[in-house]
Amino acid sequence: MSYLSLATSSLLCVLLFFLCSLEKGFALQRSNKDIDDDHSHHHVRLSSLLPSPTCSSSSVKGSNKMKTTLDVVHKHGPCSKLNKAKKGPTSHSEILNVDEERVKYINSKISKNKLGHDDELGLKQLDSATLPAKSGSLIGSGNYFVVVGLGTPKKDLSLLFDTGSDLTWTQCEPCAKSCYKQQDDIFDPSKSSTYSNITCTSSLCTQLSTATGNDPGCASTSKACVYGIQYGDSSFSVGFFSHERLTVTDTDYVDGFLFGCGQNNQGLFGGSAGLLGLGRHPISFVQQTAAKYHKIFSYCLPSTASNVGYLAFGASRASSYVKYTPFSTNSAGASFYGLDITGITVGDTKLPVSSSTFSTGGAIIDSGTVITRLPPTAYTALRSAFRQGMARYPMASSLSILDTCYDLSAYKTVIFPKIVFEFAGGATVDLAAAGTFYVASVKQVCLGFAPNGDDSDVTIFGNVQQKTLQVVYDVNGGKVGFGAGGCK
Ligand SMILES: *[C@@H]1O[C@H](CO)[C@@H](O)[C@H](O)[C@H]1NC(C)=O
Repeated sequence: MSYLSLATSSLLCVLLFFLCSLEKGFALQRSNKDIDDDHSHHHVRLSSLLPSPTCSSSSVKGSNKMKTTLDVVHKHGPCSKLNKAKKGPTSHSEILNVDEERVKYINSKISKNKLGHDDELGLKQLDSATLPAKSGSLIGSGNYFVVVGLGTPKKDLSLLFDTGSDLTWTQCEPCAKSCYKQQDDIFDPSKSSTYSNITCTSSLCTQLSTATGNDPGCASTSKACVYGIQYGDSSFSVGFFSHERLTVTDTDYVDGFLFGCGQNNQGLFGGSAGLLGLGRHPISFVQQTAAKYHKIFSYCLPSTASNVGYLAFGASRASSYVKYTPFSTNSAGASFYGLDITGITVGDTKLPVSSSTFSTGGAIIDSGTVITRLPPTAYTALRSAFRQGMARYPMASSLSILDTCYDLSAYKTVIFPKIVFEFAGGATVDLAAAGTFYVASVKQVCLGFAPNGDDSDVTIFGNVQQKTLQVVYDVNGGKVGFGAGGCK
């Protein structure tokens, strides 16, 4: 803003006192910045919370873009080519309802309930697989994807990356039973010189039981190892567990990568070709590439769907401003990355919630859950402090699981209390503006948190809250780190 326009707008404000007082006078003191915070509050322009209709691709801070870095884009935005595969826009309540399915799936996986029966997935004989009756749903609508290359010559595939899954899989020709619609060409193993099957007697095949929760099957004639994985509701993939060359970036590839070549796939995986599993199990991408990337990866999820973030493998991206907390083994299960949350501060107020509230059900960090789920006791305290800090703004109707929404259509800037998470070891994480709200529209800007059904359910630090943070998973070092301002 130039001095002239600042002077003009100040003059206008004096003349139109009542209009300007709608913004409680903030416009008079504001510089032309998106963010100008005090110690306990964020002051942001409302427009910075909204996606723009075009993709702004410059994402990575500074010049430290590494070779082993992939662009991360949101499934439902202008930066996503997957968007074109969709029939219509996904509604916010649909995204949030599907998020509830994922949370149920995570809780059942942690409490070690088997999700499906082997017979149901047709693992014993792929040829006679029985399809579950319900139409497939999504593993998570709020997911992010990256593009990797598979096979020789390599074919580019858009895979959702998921720290809550272990098996990497993609749909494969000839889609013996079923393939859902995807944006990329479906991978054809018969056209790749580096593809090979794994036999069902191999010890590699046996590992699938713990990775997928289903015992592997055996194809009747070829004795090829058959995997099956089901993601809550009715999304699943069944096919051959195989070796293949995985090309991460133009200069970096992994030979003999274990992946699922799906012949029977159902679910709306958002037009993506499958999943990249970044979980803790030995068959995850992280563990399979340990020699190359030393079990370290990091990502930054962009603030809106019109920005691009990154997913990076290897150590050098981690910078000194990242604060670490040890991984917790508290109830996290074999696949998930556990966290120990010790407290939450809203504005100037430390919530009157003890750390044992969070440890009752344990806590995990998940890239695939959209909305952070808190123990009901903690959520109630958070909501009440946040509502107090937002008292000047008119409330709007609830949005699915989100019950604290505001109509900000009359405002250009919004001032709201900072939310700070405290983790074991003293690491604190100050959530970004984009990590505080779930924005359906300017008329419905919601606090992006929801309560679990019970304090004994697992607390999940979801992907809205991780937005713009650099999140570093140092699996070898047994810790996860957070840094502010990792991407826009
Ligand atoms: C892998 O096994 C499948 C299923 O039996 C078979 O159709 C395919 O030809 C095998 N591929 C290779 C490269 O052996």
